[in-house]
Amino acid sequence: MSMTSLPKLTAQEAARFIPNGATVAFSGFTPAGAAKVVPCAIAVRARELHDLDQPYRIRVLTGASTGYCLDEALSSAHAISWRTPYQSSRTLRDQINSGEVEFVDMHLSHLPQAVMFGFFGKIDYAVVEATDFSGDGRIYLSTSIGATPTFLHCAEKIIIELNRFHSVRLSEMADIRILPPPPHRSPIPIHDALTKIGWPYMAVDPKKIVGVVENEEPDDVAPFDPPDTVSGKIAERVVRFLLQERRAGRIPQEFLPLQAGVGNVANAVMANLGENPEVPNFTMYTEVFQDSLVDLMENGKLVAASATSLTVTEGQLRRMYDNMDFFVPRIVLRPQELANNPELVRRLGVIGMNTAIEADIYGHVNSTHVGGTHLMNGIGGSGDFTRNSYLSVFMCPSIAKGGKISTIVPMVTHVDHNEHSVQIIVTEQGLADLRGLGPMERAHKIIANCAHPAYREYLYRYLEEARPGHIRHDLSKCFELHRNLQQCGSMLPGVEKL
Ligand code: COA
Repeated sequence: MSMTSLPKLTAQEAARFIPNGATVAFSGFTPAGAAKVVPCAIAVRARELHDLDQPYRIRVLTGASTGYCLDEALSSAHAISWRTPYQSSRTLRDQINSGEVEFVDMHLSHLPQAVMFGFFGKIDYAVVEATDFSGDGRIYLSTSIGATPTFLHCAEKIIIELNRFHSVRLSEMADIRILPPPPHRSPIPIHDALTKIGWPYMAVDPKKIVGVVENEEPDDVAPFDPPDTVSGKIAERVVRFLLQERRAGRIPQEFLPLQAGVGNVANAVMANLGENPEVPNFTMYTEVFQDSLVDLMENGKLVAASATSLTVTEGQLRRMYDNMDFFVPRIVLRPQELANNPELVRRLGVIGMNTAIEADIYGHVNSTHVGGTHLMNGIGGSGDFTRNSYLSVFMCPSIAKGGKISTIVPMVTHVDHNEHSVQIIVTEQGLADLRGLGPMERAHKIIANCAHPAYREYLYRYLEEARPGHIRHDLSKCFELHRNLQQCGSMLPGVEKL
C-alpha cells in the first residue's frame, strides 16, 4: 500500500467509524500531541445521537491529560463511560466525582504494559496525531510519544491525524521502543538523558490504518501564571537545599538529573534553578518538557533532557521549530514506559520534585483526592519518580483557599506517596528534611518548618494528646480538620483569611 492509497477522511467521516461502546486509545500526553479533530467530531456525533435518544459513550485511554478537544469536548457531550490513566479536565473531573464516568487512576509508566497484556480488554481504535507516515506503516509522532506506540501496536484499527502545524523534524528527537514482555527483559541500556535505544517512528501493519485526517491545529497548552510570591519562596527553598546538599557532597559536583512535576510551582523551581549562578549546568530525566525549560536550554544551563512530551505553549514551540538544529541534539522524547521507568530513575539517581495537595505530619502525601473523596487529576507520573528517586521532594503552599485549608494535616485523607518514599517536604514556610528521622521527629520537623503558623498550635496539640505508639494518632480526631472544613467551611473555625 502506498501512502497515497490511504483514504483521506474528514474528521466527521473518521468519527463515524467509532461505534458506541468502543475502546479508543488517543495519542497525547498533556495537550502535546493529543488527537484533536477526530475526538471533537466524535463529541459532535455523540450529541446528535443523544438528541435522537440513541446511546453513545466510549472508553477512553490516552498517555496522560489532554487538550480541550479531547477530554473536555467528549465529556461535555457525555460521550465518555470509562477513562484511564490521568486527566485534568474540569467537566470530566465533575463526571468522575459524580459517578457518571469510571476512572482508573494509575502510574503512567504502568499503562503500556497493562494495555499490552489486555488488562483493559481489546483496543478497538487508536486515533493518533502524526507529523508524517510512510506506505509501509511507519508513523512519525508529533510532540508526545506517551503510550502511543503501544496503542498503535495493540489497536485493531488506526486513524491518523496528520498534523501539518508540527515540525517533521520532531522525529529526530523520538526514541521509540516497546519493551519485550517479562520475563524476557534485559536491563534497559539507557545511561543518560540522551541515550537512544529505539527508532524515530512506530511501525504498524498498514492494513490496520483506516484513513488519514489532515489538519493543522496547534497543541492547546495553557500558559503558566507568572511565579507568585508563594511559589517563588518554595522555589528558593528547594534550590537552596539542593545547593547545600551539593556542598555537603550528598549531591555530586556535576549534579544529578532532575525531574519536575507539572504546574506553576515546578515551573518556578526550574526558573529559579536557571537563575542561580551556583547551580551547575544540569540535565533532566523527566516526564514533561515544559515552558521554562526552553529558556534554560537556550541559555546553556539545561544541557540535555529526556521526556515523553514537549508541553510548551505555541510561541515557545514555534521558537523551538525555528531552531531545531539547536534543540534536536539536546532532547530525547521516549515512550512513557521509558521516560518514567523506575529502573532508570533509580539507576540514574534522579532528583524528583512533585506537588502535593496535602501532606501529613508523618510525611504521607495525597496528590490526588481532595478530602479523600474528590479526584483532582490523578497520580500521573509522580509515583513512578517518587518511589525511585535518589531524593524525593514534595512541594505545596502551606495553606489553600486563603487559609481555610491547611495542607499540613494530622492524617492525609488519601495516600498516594507514603512516608517510606517521601524525603523532603517544602512549603513557603520552610523545608523539612525527613531523612533519618523517626515518626515523632518527622512530625515535629514538619509542623515547625512547613505548617502555617495559624495551624501549628493545633497540630502540636494533636500530637501531644494522641494515643502513644511508634506513630501517635488519635483516631477520633485525625480528620477533625477535614470535618470542620466540610461542616463550617474552614479547617479551624475562626481562621477564614490569612
Ligand atoms: N484541599 C483542598 N483543595 C486544595 C488543597 C487542599 N489541601 N490544596 C490545594 N487545593 C486546591 C487549590 O486551592 C486549587 O483550587 P482552584 O483550582 O479552585 O484554585 C487547586 O486545589 C489546585 O491547587 P494548586 O496549588 O494550584 O496546585 P497545582 O496546580 O500546583 O496542582 C496538584 C497540584 C497536586 C493537583 C497537581 O500537581 C497534580 O495533579 N499532581 C499529581 C500528578 C503529578 O504530580 N504529576 C507530575 C508527575 S511527573
